[in-house]
Amino acid sequence: LWTYAAAIILGYLLGSIPFGLLLTKAAGLGDIRNIGSGNIGATNVLRTGNKKLALGTLLLDGGKGAAAALIAAHFDPLLAVIAGGAALLGHLFPVWLGFKGGKGVATTLGTLLAVNWMVGIAACLTWLAVAFGLRISSLAALVAVALSPLYAYILGTGPQVVLAAFAAVLVWIRHHENIGRLLKGTEPRIGKKKA
Ligand code: G3P
Repeated sequence: LWTYAAAIILGYLLGSIPFGLLLTKAAGLGDIRNIGSGNIGATNVLRTGNKKLALGTLLLDGGKGAAAALIAAHFDPLLAVIAGGAALLGHLFPVWLGFKGGKGVATTLGTLLAVNWMVGIAACLTWLAVAFGLRISSLAALVAVALSPLYAYILGTGPQVVLAAFAAVLVWIRHHENIGRLLKGTEPRIGKKKA
């Protein structure tokens, strides 16, 4: 049982590191939460105009989910799913930021890649297809996470389906403002600075 508790704690702590906030602060760009959508994720870091920082945020936020899952996978594949889920919760609800974290897209993709690379690649390709086709990050994320339980069902295991469905529900909930803007047609395109 202690291994499950350890996987949850490790995953949560790794996931709760707000890389977007830390990188933009370190670069002297101020508090990312006062810019654009106010989100701490890579899409919003891109709105500062700094592509390298946005890429760094994407890789580190994805990497922390992957790291949690890979460390736990060393012990047992079910633990990888649990640690990945905990990392996502850490990213969405970090104790350090009063439980107000990000939207979980990069962390979900990183976790899926680590837990089952085929499911992860399928989700990433979906994100890329929508993002390049329509140039709206949130819509790409909503479609990618909505399809990932199906990808896990076809290419993965039962616990991976549960993880993907858990992530999809949380990511959709955290995108409620984006969904509102999408429905109104006011969601900004990728890279456009928002007033
Ligand atoms: O990764 C979050 C993305 O889907 C939306 O970000 O800043 O446009 O709300 P943002």
